[in-house]
Amino acid sequence: MCGIVGYTGPRQAYPIIIKGLRRLEYRGYDSSGVALLDNKGGLNIYKKKGKVAELEDYTIGKDLGAQMGIGHTRWATHGEPSDNNAHPHLSLNGRLTMIHNGIIENYAQIKQELLTKGYSFTSDTDTEVLLNFIEYIQNSNNCNLEEALRIALKRVTGAYCILLIDKENPQTIIAARKGSPLVIGIGKGEHFLASDASPIIEYTKEVVYVNDYELAIINPDELILKNLGNETITPYITKLDMELAAIEKGGYDHFMLKEIFEQPSTIFDCLRGRLDAEKGSIIMSGVQEHIDQLKNAQRIIILACGTSWHAALVAEYVIEELCRIPVEVEYASEFRYRNPIINKGDIIIAVSQSGETADTLVAIEKAKEKGAFIFGVVNVVGSSIARISHAGAYTHAGPEIGVASTKAFTGQLAVLFMIGLKIAYDKGSITEDRFRKLLVELQDVPEKVEAILKNANEIKKIADKYKNATDFLFLGRGCNFPIALEGALKLKEISYIHAEGYPAAEMKHGPIALVDEELPVVFIATKDPFHEKIVSNMQEIKARKGKIISIITEGDLVSPSLSDDFFAIPAADELIAPILSIIPLQLLSYYTGVAKGIDVDKPRNLAKSVTVE
Ligand code: AGP
Repeated sequence: MCGIVGYTGPRQAYPIIIKGLRRLEYRGYDSSGVALLDNKGGLNIYKKKGKVAELEDYTIGKDLGAQMGIGHTRWATHGEPSDNNAHPHLSLNGRLTMIHNGIIENYAQIKQELLTKGYSFTSDTDTEVLLNFIEYIQNSNNCNLEEALRIALKRVTGAYCILLIDKENPQTIIAARKGSPLVIGIGKGEHFLASDASPIIEYTKEVVYVNDYELAIINPDELILKNLGNETITPYITKLDMELAAIEKGGYDHFMLKEIFEQPSTIFDCLRGRLDAEKGSIIMSGVQEHIDQLKNAQRIIILACGTSWHAALVAEYVIEELCRIPVEVEYASEFRYRNPIINKGDIIIAVSQSGETADTLVAIEKAKEKGAFIFGVVNVVGSSIARISHAGAYTHAGPEIGVASTKAFTGQLAVLFMIGLKIAYDKGSITEDRFRKLLVELQDVPEKVEAILKNANEIKKIADKYKNATDFLFLGRGCNFPIALEGALKLKEISYIHAEGYPAAEMKHGPIALVDEELPVVFIATKDPFHEKIVSNMQEIKARKGKIISIITEGDLVSPSLSDDFFAIPAADELIAPILSIIPLQLLSYYTGVAKGIDVDKPRNLAKSVTVE
């Protein structure tokens, strides 16, 4: 959701904070702001509606001198995007300044209390309410700021990561988290704070991931970690294994395009050291350590949101087919509040790129309460879901900056496929021959993706042709149905064109009423056992003059004859094909968004990591 940055040390804080906010802008770009506190207690707050670039323009010529500061880029929850609702917020007595990522659910009640105490508010935000609540507790209890914060946090419900500074203590930042991520970078005589490691990586590789219900008191030379019970905790320092280049555009116009073209190497990295087709083996320590539990699972429930939920749907087809274990795929947000039935022997697989999605986090906590075993499939190393899962596997796709998930999705498919293959092999639910054939198929995926990307221009032409369409339909059968859903989601996210994904056979039961000569219908029609079925679905659309765009397998002569436009991909086993057939759909959404002049890395109303419920 929002992006948070902080710095205290010998350097000028402003350039570090602004650069950090630019790196975190994919987390929210409704407004941004910075507070700078110099050693004499001089405080300057600058904030502006819109992207970080607008803040940078606004601060030109302003007093930016300070060696401590905090900065925020916002994804609006309470109060529309505006200068007033932008963070940082200042307390009524003008002494305390705070930024916040999350939602204070009981802020309205606290606001009522404060109004009766003579407090007034300049914004509509829950954050300003929490800040004044801290000030009120500090004054009425005559306690220090840390104590006031601890008392306040025991009274609020919801999610938060906050950075709090006090004019009377110009080198100290007090931070706290519950539900929203916080990383602290340890330098020599300086500390960096951020929602994730991307603003920190160029200064230090030594970081501390702050856990829920922890407070941090940070000075240039000191980091003190405590829990809400005021007990001191020894910080656990992790070394980041990420390079700066990974979070740069590397010559591409957009992170999304870079990440689409990175997939041959990210999928290769995901398979490397795990899959060995020659030896006929899959080595995944997280799976191996719990193989008995996994292969004897009564049921596998996969929890996820958005694109990760589509990866989970593909995994349902793959795991049921290979492992003969029933799989249920759940929207994490619905699962959390549905009082789900979890039986002994049930396995939960939680899929998340960011590892910070609040809906998935709270669903995991719910399942854990009911005694479930949690296996996390996550991309961001050290993220909350990775840390609260009992075991897991990283997708090794590297930092994904573009809001629309692309390389993380194919990484998720590759990992979930390897998990299914590994369990099936150990369970003996597939033959040695099938196992080895699928190992080779999976090993060949990076090369096939490379071949697909070489023809990206063909997709660009199709995108230019249909960019003015107002609606799209995406259709697929079997494990290409979730790919139809994902293709539709990508187009919605990136081009703002209304699009729906459907099982192709479902058309006849209603949606076919939408078909006319204006409606582009994308078929994922790769070769599989029921290819002739999808060919008849194409004929049904053709009969109603729908515009057919088909993703086909090289050498298929039938589908192109029914299509207005088609794009051929290399042949692959039907269970592997989804990893390939999504690539042209990622490109279709990208080129359509660019053709419509949309900022494809930061599409409106979205954020990369949804850290509020
Ligand atoms: C996908 O392009 C979107 N960014 C969004 O649907 C995303 O997949 C969803 O928010 C889940 O995020 P996660 O994988 O980080 O949990």
